[in-house]
Amino acid sequence: MAANTSYAPSRLTIDLNAIQDNYKTICDYVSPSRSGAVVKADGYGLGEVIVSKALYNAGCRAFFTAHIDEAIAVKQAIPDASVSVMNGLLAGEETVYKEYNLVPTLNSLDQVKIWQKFCRENDNLPQANLQFDTGMARLGLMPKELDELCEDLSPLDGINLQFIMSHMACADETSHPLNRKQQQEFTKGIARLPKATAMLAASSAIFLGKDWHFDMVRPGVALYGGRPNEDAPNPMKQVIKLEGKVVQVREVNAPETVGYAASYEAKDRRLIATVAAGYADGYIRSLSNTATAYKNEKAVPLVGRVSMDVLTFDVTHLENTANEVKTGDMLDLIGPNHDINDLAKEAGTIPYEILTSLGKRYARHYIGGE
Ligand SMILES: Cc1ncc(COP(=O)(O)O)c(C=O)c1O
Repeated sequence: MAANTSYAPSRLTIDLNAIQDNYKTICDYVSPSRSGAVVKADGYGLGEVIVSKALYNAGCRAFFTAHIDEAIAVKQAIPDASVSVMNGLLAGEETVYKEYNLVPTLNSLDQVKIWQKFCRENDNLPQANLQFDTGMARLGLMPKELDELCEDLSPLDGINLQFIMSHMACADETSHPLNRKQQQEFTKGIARLPKATAMLAASSAIFLGKDWHFDMVRPGVALYGGRPNEDAPNPMKQVIKLEGKVVQVREVNAPETVGYAASYEAKDRRLIATVAAGYADGYIRSLSNTATAYKNEKAVPLVGRVSMDVLTFDVTHLENTANEVKTGDMLDLIGPNHDINDLAKEAGTIPYEILTSLGKRYARHYIGGE
């Protein structure tokens, strides 16, 4: 039987207007450079196709995914968009790029040669991106491969380059020395390569300033409300609200304990609200005994371990107040008082992990995006 989300107790609201506003904020900030959008990992957990369509309506024309399947989904939904796969071209995958008109990212000299051979044997191929490494040691031509290519550019003959790109390692720390070093390496690299649209910055590097913008930028997490830089206020609008339904309120008294491993022990009479969400919904276990939720403006601490399907919050201090927590109420697990960045901090992780872990069991509501 198909799942009927109308019975889902907890609710995830995704504000597509806020994503569009964040995209426009970035476009204005980097102008005259342009911006694409990174929509990999199911649009950072928010729904790849629906998010991409909203971004397209806001003017975005270049989309970036990690995997081919993700790119196919976006391309089929938005045929006139440029959709790039960033993880690289593996031998044998060339025909898929041709069939779906997707843009491969050539991440090594071997990949350049594979694509060149395919270009010689085929007409009407999509453009390709060239990525070289400037300090991440992950994807992209290694420095010695870049040198080899720049000494003899012939492996690029017949390849129609769209973007030349690299990726920053430490841009969320504004004063990290690698930031300037990577910017300089990228500037030197693009000067030695044929002219194509140059792009280096993702969310954090965008806010390092103009020197990092080149022709185009490719933000991901900032579009979805993630704070780009650790040491600066967040200029992005919050996109999601996550409300967890209270399914029971119970009294516990000292020395009773709450949850698995008895990790929380009541020192006196406590009121515990049990909420229908858990680690199976991406409310990760490291939030045990540390997270906060909100009833309107009032914070309530999570006590005990995060279970698979339920969370337990101490709501004692709200008893007999206007914000008293009752069965059937909704608590903001992520909301205006406590955003994805706050929850990530409590979990000892980054907002990317909070977003991409969001489970499939919530009732999802989308706002706007036209
Ligand atoms: C190559 C590349 N570009 C852009 C992005 C987007 O980064 P962010 O979400 O920090 O904006 C990522 C994300 O991991 C990436 O791997």
